[in-house]
Amino acid sequence: MFAQTLSTDHAQTLKGAVQAAVSALASGEVVALPTETVYGLAADATNPAALAKIFAVKERPEFDPLILHLAHHKDLSGVAIVPPEIEADFRKLIENFWPGPLTIVLPKHPGVPDLATAGLPTVAVRRSANVVFAKVVKEFGRPLAAPSANLFGRLSPTSAAAVQEQLGERISLILDGGACACGLESTIIRIVPSGKTRPNLEILRPGAVPPELLKPFGKPVLIENSPSSTPEAPGQLEGHYAPRTPLRLLEDPVDFQPEEGRRYALLSLRGEEEDGYLFLADFVETAVLSPRAGKLPEAAVRFFHLLRLLDQSGVDEILVEPIPARGLGLAMRDRLRRAAAKASE
Ligand code: TXA
Ligand code: MG
Repeated sequence: MFAQTLSTDHAQTLKGAVQAAVSALASGEVVALPTETVYGLAADATNPAALAKIFAVKERPEFDPLILHLAHHKDLSGVAIVPPEIEADFRKLIENFWPGPLTIVLPKHPGVPDLATAGLPTVAVRRSANVVFAKVVKEFGRPLAAPSANLFGRLSPTSAAAVQEQLGERISLILDGGACACGLESTIIRIVPSGKTRPNLEILRPGAVPPELLKPFGKPVLIENSPSSTPEAPGQLEGHYAPRTPLRLLEDPVDFQPEEGRRYALLSLRGEEEDGYLFLADFVETAVLSPRAGKLPEAAVRFFHLLRLLDQSGVDEILVEPIPARGLGLAMRDRLRRAAAKASE
């Protein structure tokens, strides 16, 4: 049994697909929906039984809280409480970034089921800019909880086909919104008063909004989660975002000596010979994030898609060229570091 995939590329198909999703959600089902970041596995955030299905389908541990997605700014008051000391900063942020790939952690409204927040006193909220997602959540009329539509710890899906591959036998409906515009998950922040005019914006997960863009609204502070500490974003675990194939990050071409008989694939940033990686081994497969240009937004869009292709190529190991530690590169490096940690477990 495979999930039904409904296309949304014309006004008519969009209308029918949205209706199908809304009626499935209303009867407590989970539905995979496109967002501008990655595909999400959505359920009625007010229905604990529906939320439980998300955890079951993804095989996600219940200590890992979900993100709630709103249709309108005004729906926020039903899920979160904005403390007066951060209210002005919060308003500025949502005016600039919502709808869009910024998730903000706030004190939770008592009405939000504990399952959604894993019992935490806080809740993570965002508004998706994806047209299909926005229509579904608006017509549904209640907030949707939606984690990425992958199995726990695996690569995030950026196409309907990628959702089908991981979850197709476990869910009944996928809305196909094409490839995700950003390709990386939302940036998750917490607003912390600093005693100065600008607050600290603690980045719990680097993502599709790079720290530079947050600067006008506060001081971005990257919070590092180490495996031994209690993670600030509980889902930010080592070994996340991992392909099945072992993955290794290279820092310098000289660091690598191919092993006899081992089959390698390469994830390259620009695919340029002078970078020194292309001929390090007789690569079975080479994928290039941003051919020649090395542009980070283009690399981000293709990132999970190419990792998935390399994972399917049947090699023994995926090697990855360094990605610059700036802009969207920070989010890609974060995902790669976690995936590599999985490989070395
Ligand atoms: O782009 C995205 O954010 C996608 C799309 C579908 O919206 N969603 C997504 O959800 O990436 P998920 O569940 O794969 O990752 C959500 C992250 C987890 O790491 C979780 O621990 C963190 O958000 N999170 C959720 N609630 C939190 C809270 N109250 N405090 C801190 N972190 C929280
Ligand atoms: Mg995820």
